[in-house]
Amino acid sequence: MSRGKVIVTGGCGYIGSHTTVELINNEFEVVIFDDLSNSKEFIIDRIYQITGVKPIFEKVDLSNPIEADMVYKKHSDAHSIINFAAFKAVGESVEKPIMYYKNNLYTLINSIEAQKKYEIKNFIFSSSATVYGNPDILPITEKFQTKRAFSPYGNGKKIAEEILEDFNKAFSNFKTISLRYFNPIGAHESGLIGELPNGVPNNLLPYVTQCAAGVLKELQVFGDDYNTKDGTPIRDYIHVVDLAKAHVKALERMILDNMEDNYEVYNLGTGKGVTVMDVINTFEMVTNKKINYKITHRRKGDVQALYASSEKAKNNLDWEAQLSLKDMIETSWNWEKSYRCI
Ligand code: WQD
Repeated sequence: MSRGKVIVTGGCGYIGSHTTVELINNEFEVVIFDDLSNSKEFIIDRIYQITGVKPIFEKVDLSNPIEADMVYKKHSDAHSIINFAAFKAVGESVEKPIMYYKNNLYTLINSIEAQKKYEIKNFIFSSSATVYGNPDILPITEKFQTKRAFSPYGNGKKIAEEILEDFNKAFSNFKTISLRYFNPIGAHESGLIGELPNGVPNNLLPYVTQCAAGVLKELQVFGDDYNTKDGTPIRDYIHVVDLAKAHVKALERMILDNMEDNYEVYNLGTGKGVTVMDVINTFEMVTNKKINYKITHRRKGDVQALYASSEKAKNNLDWEAQLSLKDMIETSWNWEKSYRCI
């Protein structure tokens, strides 16, 4: 018995595909809107292999208002939209700010315009911990002021949240939850879906797994002169499957009408700070593979430490991260091996 139709924009992507699996596992009917600019269509078949259900797929550029309106009209019987569709390479956004603001904000605005026009009640927004900038105290709670992020990617997330807040102030019959991800890593236990970086990975773990697979030669560790236990920066790595499950919980909160306000924000992290060297050492211990690395200069825009308090999600969404750093690394490596047939 279907619990109704959910539109997942960017559903062929890393977090979108894992969330689609969890939605299907929870009896929702999923329609994926994706332009395949940073994802691959074979992921649809992989979702089918995992769940036994093939989501409807619409190839569409949601930053184009005509295309966006057409697909949202076609699927206006949906009760919810989960919006992952966005460019997401932090470094690239610094070089190409207009491309990032145009794509990510046009996509968002066209989607909420359609949401209002076709009365699709619920909206979940894929936000990021980068909206907190460089926090002076930790752990980070949702009460912290958002700050101007270091990149157009991060600033775009902050602007998007402000647009959504204004939209929901103006139209109280719609509901929105923004989910602020810390550092999503890992992959589905099947090894059938996972992170598929375009070109050389910007993020740490995909870079490590590609070194272990022999695709890349050496990992650069961006600085070991931070004020942390081993000098390398701290992040709150969270398993992508835990993250996906939080989206189902947020959706259920909206459907069951349990929200205190029609716009809410939640941090999604584990609450545990992990250094770059912790990741490398855990990877070597788990896989028995040595990682060649060299300590280089700090990366521009990096902050020393970021980790979440997810108490609010625990209390209001009845959700907390279950999977360990070891699980994250094991599943990432399993995905890398299956993707490269090694
Ligand atoms: C993690 C740590 C690096 C690569 C970004 C975005 C965030 C989200 C997650 C999209 C840092 C170090 C990395 C490498 C390294 N993205 N590192 N060598 O920067 O915390 O967050 O990705 O939603 O919004 O800001 O993640 O994985 O790039 O870096 O030493 O080759 O690993 O310095 O300390 P980050 P990351």
